[in-house]
Amino acid sequence: MSSPPRPQPATPTVLRARKAVIPAAGLGTRFAPATKVVPKELLPVVDVPALEYIVAEAARVGLADVLVITGRGKDAIEGHFDAAPEVEDALERKGDEHRLARVRRSTDLARMHYTRQREARGLGDAVSYAEAFVGNEPFAVLLGDDIIDERDVLLARMLEVQAERGGIVLGLIEVEGAAISLYGSIKPAGDVVDGVIAVETLIEKPKPEEALSNLAVIGRYVLPPQIFDALRRTELGARGELELTDAMRVLGQDGVPMHGVVFSGRRYDTGDRQDYLRAVVRLACEHPELGADFSGWLTEFVRTL
Ligand code: UTP
Repeated sequence: MSSPPRPQPATPTVLRARKAVIPAAGLGTRFAPATKVVPKELLPVVDVPALEYIVAEAARVGLADVLVITGRGKDAIEGHFDAAPEVEDALERKGDEHRLARVRRSTDLARMHYTRQREARGLGDAVSYAEAFVGNEPFAVLLGDDIIDERDVLLARMLEVQAERGGIVLGLIEVEGAAISLYGSIKPAGDVVDGVIAVETLIEKPKPEEALSNLAVIGRYVLPPQIFDALRRTELGARGELELTDAMRVLGQDGVPMHGVVFSGRRYDTGDRQDYLRAVVRLACEHPELGADFSGWLTEFVRTL
């Protein structure tokens, strides 16, 4: 008698993710009081709000439908991606074609969709609001305050890895020492090959001595639609929030493959004041119109310190 068929591992997803979800409903307490009424996702990095860099990143890799998870006090986010006839008319009258094109860019970047998280109950809770938008497809999550420099490649590679191997794909960076406690920490299940590493499990914001490695999860994820069911099965974490990390661990325990793409390019966490300031200074120095004057001034200024 032949033995019963053995359970097969989950079939890799062949469909490449086509939709992006950007959670932007957090309270931004690290940046208060600036964030009392202004969403941190709209704080300008030189002359463009942080969130526009992120929507542009999604659009660049072909994610043409973008859902932003907003919430109380975040209404201005929708306005930024609408047309602004008065501003546009004024620029037209001034003949400022260049700035007009830049104003219009935000309207033309992607098909924008919005939904509201009722309360800031954690990143996992925010992502759960995307279920109807996502349907039964893999999708990307880009955190609304985490900018990846457009000259460096991360998300395109993550989408490729997800289409090949299915399951969860995480953006990872190497961090030093105690910094791991600001991030999710992964336990590798092998070595890094071509920038990709298999992940055994992960935990959110560990104490430095409890970290599983020095590889930290940053604000880019490609997720399978099973994450929504996993979120329903996940209990609130130590911070009283529904953690995306915990739901991903649940999926990993179900046998869903998890991989990370290790990123060593330029990244700015604009929800953190230090990193925000670094992003502004760096991108201002490299700005095509402002760069030369600004870096000249900065060089002089640094001499006086
Ligand atoms: P953060 O933890 O950086 O955002 O979440 P926060 O809670 O606003 O930050 P602080 O610690 O109070 O300063 C990462 C991303 O997830 C979103 C945030 O808007 C941010 O873009 N988020 C977080 C939500 O959409 N909902 C939440 O409940 C929590």
